Amino acid sequence: MGGGGGGGGADGGSYNALHPEKVKIAATCLVVVVGVYLLGLYLKSSAEWRSNLSLSLNKKKKKKPIRVYMDGCFDMMHYGHCNALRQASTLGDQLVVGVVSDDEIIANKGPPVTPVHERMIMVNAVKWVDEVISDAPYAITEDFMKKLFYEYNIDYIIHGDDPCVLPDGTDAYALAKKAGRYKQIKRTEGVSSTDIVGRMLLCTRERSISDSHNHSSLQRQFSHGHSQKFEDGGSGSGTRVSHFLPTSRRIVQFSNDKGPGQDARIVYIDGAFDLFHAGHVEVCYAFPVSSHVRAF
Ligand code: CTP
Repeated sequence: MGGGGGGGGADGGSYNALHPEKVKIAATCLVVVVGVYLLGLYLKSSAEWRSNLSLSLNKKKKKKPIRVYMDGCFDMMHYGHCNALRQASTLGDQLVVGVVSDDEIIANKGPPVTPVHERMIMVNAVKWVDEVISDAPYAITEDFMKKLFYEYNIDYIIHGDDPCVLPDGTDAYALAKKAGRYKQIKRTEGVSSTDIVGRMLLCTRERSISDSHNHSSLQRQFSHGHSQKFEDGGSGSGTRVSHFLPTSRRIVQFSNDKGPGQDARIVYIDGAFDLFHAGHVEVCYAFPVSSHVRAF
């Protein structure tokens, strides 16, 4: 009994001591738990870092939209002007348009047919235009360029690829070009305010041919020599024929990508809309139509 008790005492001592196998298992478990914890911490912080980075990148992207500026007379607004505004809008995120004052047009090219407030209404109705500045100068002067850059945050000044020359023979956009802030769009062939005036003179001529000689010379002056009607004795169609080429590509460029919504109220209005003017725009705005059914 005594010997058995002694053996039990010896056994009891080895039972209480830490078994190396158990220590190994416990240590492994501890390493795994700490490892998993640290990995979790790492993944969490890197996910946060990534989302912070993309947020700040998005903020940076949203912070500075590219603002482009196009100026012009936009007298007797036609599809060539609209196509110029469409092209300008593709060169930035926001399009600001400067409508040249009546006085500036008189000083540089002769009196406009439509006064500045009507020209403003027309330009403002174009769906690609975000902001309109009234009384813009005809030429980009040093002061006005600073105003555009620092007050209106303009990145680029845009004009058609036709030369725009001041009465003294200098380029109206020379300073913008020198500053490296000038971009060009392609002028639309076959239409101009001058050509429209020529067509109007032809209409008048059909009603009164008594002063045909004077009229014919005036017409020639305005129609850039497309006056078969006069040259062939008045039998042809002459400049009254529009040179507009409504290609399917151009129609797609001018259209909106979206149709009316399911519950949209669709209003129909018809008319000749000859020489589309501020009154036509106002009548379109008289109806509560959504912005995608704009005048142009
Ligand atoms: N523009 C164009 N295509 C046209 C007519 C004008 O791209 N057929 C562009 C011009 O190059 C300019 C802008 O439209 O960038 C405004 O033109 P505007 O100052 O109104 O006058 P003009 O160039 O003299 O045009 P128009 O003779 O038709 O009055």
